[in-house]
Amino acid sequence: MNNIQSYIKENKTRFLNELIELLKIPSISADSAYRDDVLKTAEAIKVSLEKAGCDIVEICKTDGYPVVYGEKIIDKNLPTVLVYGHYDVQPPDPLDLWNSPPFEPVIKKTALHPEGAIYARGACDDKGQMYMHVKAMEFMTSTNQLPCNVKFMIEGEEEVGSANLATFVKNNQDKLKNDVILISDTGMIAQDIPSITTGLRGLSYVEVEVTGPNRDLHSGLYGGAVANPINVLTKMIASLHDENNHITIPGFYDKVEELSKEERAEMAKAPFNLDHYKKALDINDVYGETGYTTNERNAIRPTLDVNGIWGGYIGEGAKTVIASKAYAKISMRLVPHQDWEEITQLFKTHFESLAPKGVTVKVTPHHGGQGYVTPINSIGYQAASKAYQETFGKRPIPQRSGGSIPIVSLFEQELKSKIILMGFGLDSDAIHSPNEHFGVFNYLKGIETIPLFYKYFTELSN
Ligand code: BES
Ligand code: MN
Ligand code: MN
Repeated sequence: MNNIQSYIKENKTRFLNELIELLKIPSISADSAYRDDVLKTAEAIKVSLEKAGCDIVEICKTDGYPVVYGEKIIDKNLPTVLVYGHYDVQPPDPLDLWNSPPFEPVIKKTALHPEGAIYARGACDDKGQMYMHVKAMEFMTSTNQLPCNVKFMIEGEEEVGSANLATFVKNNQDKLKNDVILISDTGMIAQDIPSITTGLRGLSYVEVEVTGPNRDLHSGLYGGAVANPINVLTKMIASLHDENNHITIPGFYDKVEELSKEERAEMAKAPFNLDHYKKALDINDVYGETGYTTNERNAIRPTLDVNGIWGGYIGEGAKTVIASKAYAKISMRLVPHQDWEEITQLFKTHFESLAPKGVTVKVTPHHGGQGYVTPINSIGYQAASKAYQETFGKRPIPQRSGGSIPIVSLFEQELKSKIILMGFGLDSDAIHSPNEHFGVFNYLKGIETIPLFYKYFTELSN
């Protein structure tokens, strides 16, 4: 493609400023106090898609936050790329751990980002990565180099489970018809090691509640004589892993895909430095399932983690009390073939069976989704690979990610096309954490690489 590098150079400041404006709107989908801001973000995305050259842009109502849809159809006989992204972000808390306010973006240089990184909630996940596609589109339309048809589907509920997007996709099969789905909402191995995400884990998210006595009790008068819900809950949770860090829920591993020796050997070729890994997290050792490497543990193996646990007295000083209730939020990351609804049911049955006499246990499923794997011999993968080779000067490494984008497997099922995950973030970009950031290099490299995907996908589709 002509002039992509010079186009980026000339427009770099504007590209950064536009993203900064978008990052200032706190589009927190989980917190209804930010409803107006989420809706305002949808409006801003709509305007940006119009400016980027889409012929039709609509804000499509759902039962939750709207989906922003845009398209430019240049020739019905050419292939169609459908871009998916999300404009909602995670809550920024804990606020006091941010070095600058989460919705007042600043650019700062770091060791990994010598060209600077934009610090803000959503910088990497996913406003920054989604906006690379809008700017890539602008480049292609304004220089008359759009080689195929494009559709955009940008949603506002990814961080809360995409419940309404599923309905939207099912009801709009024709509108969303495409030849490949392109997503930048994952990461790459390192600045000089491009990678394409070939797998995502599934997810089952549940909340548990253990109830003991009908009121909080004096821990001296009653302690030892009635079940303490917090003691019981922690014991139940502890029993969910055995001494090898295997999950103990009966049937949990039944459908887990075991990779062959060859596949594991192939995976092990991806660059990884355990010392750097430990150092980056300030831990003196890694931890996990016996028999698997760190990269296997967080990509091809299922896991169970407590995400939050509460109950009893947590205020200043001490209060001698046995709480009536204790709670926890638990996520299970799943691998392909494990069905999230089945796993949720297995968890519920098992967890309830663990309850000793003297307490009652309630398990409430939150949300979930299936895992995803995609082959590397598809036209989409090959096109992406060629695009990276051109902009990074090396072949990207296929890599399975431990994260989840639950809606991805539904896309494949409903829209019958392959999903290509071209992520440009780094694991160290602190998504969902305080001080989330996105490298200026990564942002611009994404804008440079995406148009080449369009070009090669169109060429290879012939
Ligand atoms: N973009 C992330 C998922 C991700 C990040 C995948 C990095 C691979 C690499 C997405 O926004 C996300 O946070 N997903 C959630 C699940 C969702 C249902 C809240 C997750 O993985 O926890
Ligand atoms: Mn995301
Ligand atoms: Mn996220």
